[in-house]
Amino acid sequence: MWGNGSPQAFGASQSWFESRHPSHLTTMRRTDTVEEPSVRNVIILAAGEGKRMKSSVPKVLHPLLGRTLLGHVLAAAEPFLESGTVTVVVGHGGDQVREHLARVAPEAVPVTQTEQRGTGHAVRIALDASPELSGTVVVLNGDIPLLRAETLAALVHAHETAQASATVLTAEVDNPTGLGRIVRNAGGEFAAIVEERDATPEQRAVREINSGAYVFEAAALREMLGKLSTNNDQGEEYLTDVIGMLAAAGAPIVAHRAPDATETLGANDRAELAGLRALMRDRINDEWMKAGVAIIDPATTWIDVTVTLERDAVIEPNTHLRGATSIGEAAVIGPDTSLIDVVVGPGAAVVRTHAVSSEIGPQASVGPFAYLRPGSQLGRKSKVGTFVETKAATLGEGAKVPHLSYVGDATIGEHTNIGAATVFVNYDGVRKQRSVIGAHARTGADNMFVAPVHVGDGAYTAAGSVIVKDVPAGALGVSRATQRNIDGWVERKRAGTAAAEAAKVARAREENHAEAGQVAESSPRDEQ
Ligand code: UD1
Ligand code: CA
Repeated sequence: MWGNGSPQAFGASQSWFESRHPSHLTTMRRTDTVEEPSVRNVIILAAGEGKRMKSSVPKVLHPLLGRTLLGHVLAAAEPFLESGTVTVVVGHGGDQVREHLARVAPEAVPVTQTEQRGTGHAVRIALDASPELSGTVVVLNGDIPLLRAETLAALVHAHETAQASATVLTAEVDNPTGLGRIVRNAGGEFAAIVEERDATPEQRAVREINSGAYVFEAAALREMLGKLSTNNDQGEEYLTDVIGMLAAAGAPIVAHRAPDATETLGANDRAELAGLRALMRDRINDEWMKAGVAIIDPATTWIDVTVTLERDAVIEPNTHLRGATSIGEAAVIGPDTSLIDVVVGPGAAVVRTHAVSSEIGPQASVGPFAYLRPGSQLGRKSKVGTFVETKAATLGEGAKVPHLSYVGDATIGEHTNIGAATVFVNYDGVRKQRSVIGAHARTGADNMFVAPVHVGDGAYTAAGSVIVKDVPAGALGVSRATQRNIDGWVERKRAGTAAAEAAKVARAREENHAEAGQVAESSPRDEQ
């Protein structure tokens, strides 16, 4: 998680550009001779609106399997926190982005770009906010969520090994539409990045694209940012021009090819975002299958990056595992199940269930068609069956609520069975209160437990009872009127209805039976 990661160990290096450009030496030279790890600061660009998302939520805050787009980029950058800072440039929806950062990455420093005047302008604002920032600077677009931390580490390593002024992560893609093209000179060396709208037809034919992930030597970056023009189709300051200008000045540039082009994909609209989500789903599912989890239908299994699973867990089709969910060894989940922040113990079975912020104990059984609301804690080998809803409910080991019930604000003891169609009446219209059922109790079908009520260990309750008073241990609680039957009521009060007709026929039949019985009694069969 954010804040706990450890950085890759890179050797400290002095920049080639630094040694060739003496003007930077005053700010760049280290005063001590002891080798220290280089400082690597990260700047994430997240001020854009993302117009084509057609959303009141800024693009970087759209969700993608457990994190926002920005959250994924922050996670890739997290290892760098140990030796440097992470600055996030915010603008559109700035309050929302700041609030999100405070929650998911409190160490990250937001800097506001009031007007979105381009990616170069955004980096300049970030650097102006940290005048002392030096060393290696990683710059990441906030909308490339599939970028792996290992790829970013390799990018920084390539940059530092080559002692480059700038390093750009590129990819060869089938469809480069809308992306900046990597333009190379006759010798095949990096020359510039040209945006599609500024490109010549030959440049548009290039399929090597700029991913939006870069590494810079800080002084070189700072110097060239100061020289950016807005002489392009969008009238913006392009960060990409910094690299072209450095190349033109003879500084060493590395164009580092991503091992997997899908890592560099961005999303500009909701259809593209859905495409990224499917790629991320496949990546996550592949990793879990390699780790020993059975995923029956990977195409319909959606597991957040934050979820953990143990080996031999079985995930049946159409299952969603979200947030801080963890699945124990050999548990079977699904089909048609959503678990959000749910801890499932080993060997449990959860079928066609929706569960939120709950714990399902080892070998417990849930569903089909169960709804576990927050605070449901199901003990080992307990059961929550069909059409059962629970909330703030604790079931002891082996306790069962098999059918058609609501268990709200209740504690049910070990090995107790709750009869079908029971309601824990927890709300009196003003207050919610708890009820407690002891161990080894047997409650009847169709009971109402009007809270707060306590049923003792080993007690029984009769079917159809409304239990408003405590039932002592071992007692039978009965709370219902004694039945009486008013004979002939339907024929008298509902004459002419189908029910009255049926009653009449039945009564005639009964009378015939009675007469026949008398005849039979007076003249036994063997005498006929
Ligand atoms: C950018 C690159 C392009 C590359 C592509 C990869 C430039 C000029 N172009 O284009 O070469 O192929 O990314 O996805 O950099 N942002 C700000 N402030 C601004 C403008 C943008 O913070 O003033 C942020 C956005 O929120 C976004 C990122 O910078 O996260 C990239 O901006 P975007 O407009 O998406 O650039 P692209 O047109 O995709
Ligand atoms: Ca983009």
